Amino acid sequence: MEEAEMKVAKIRNGTVIDHIPSGKALVVLRLLGLTGKVENTLTIAMNVKSKKLGIKDIIKVENLELDPSLLGSLALIAPMATINVIRDYRVYGKSKVILKDYVEGILKCPNPTCISRQQNEPIVSKFKVIQKTPLKLQCTYCYRYVNENEVIEQLVEGK
Ligand code: CTP
Ligand code: ZN
Repeated sequence: MEEAEMKVAKIRNGTVIDHIPSGKALVVLRLLGLTGKVENTLTIAMNVKSKKLGIKDIIKVENLELDPSLLGSLALIAPMATINVIRDYRVYGKSKVILKDYVEGILKCPNPTCISRQQNEPIVSKFKVIQKTPLKLQCTYCYRYVNENEVIEQLVEGK
């Protein structure tokens, strides 16, 4: 562990989301629904030195283990993120988010005339990952490109 990281206190129980691209911690918090009325102790470290990423953000949430259904959308915003489950100060489990070549079902195509958006067509949305950072996707049905800001807007909408 590096010196800059040691400045951030260890937690006894909870989840550490590590290797978040620098500047994205607040978006990740919104995505996970950890804004507003959250009583858990949260530690957010931004622009911490990292060997893998240059600089990164880290989020620590005490006494909470993440809902695995959120990992697919987390991968879009933080494709290198590591989720560490901490129990009694130890790293009890470590998993990496996975950004696959295609993203299915998580996002809606921004093109209102896209076949994936027609009420009578039970088609699950599907995007090809053209680029991971900054994120660029392409709808496999209408070929519309979707950029990172559009993805973030959709994911944090209403949270
Ligand atoms: N951590 C913490 N509290 C603990 C244990 C670990 O906040 N009680 C944090 C560490 O500071 C680190 C992350 O959880 O940010 C993962 O811990 P660890 O696996 O020990 O660190 P690394 O080996 O550096 O992780 P990686 O290989 O995933 O980069
Ligand atoms: Zn489309």
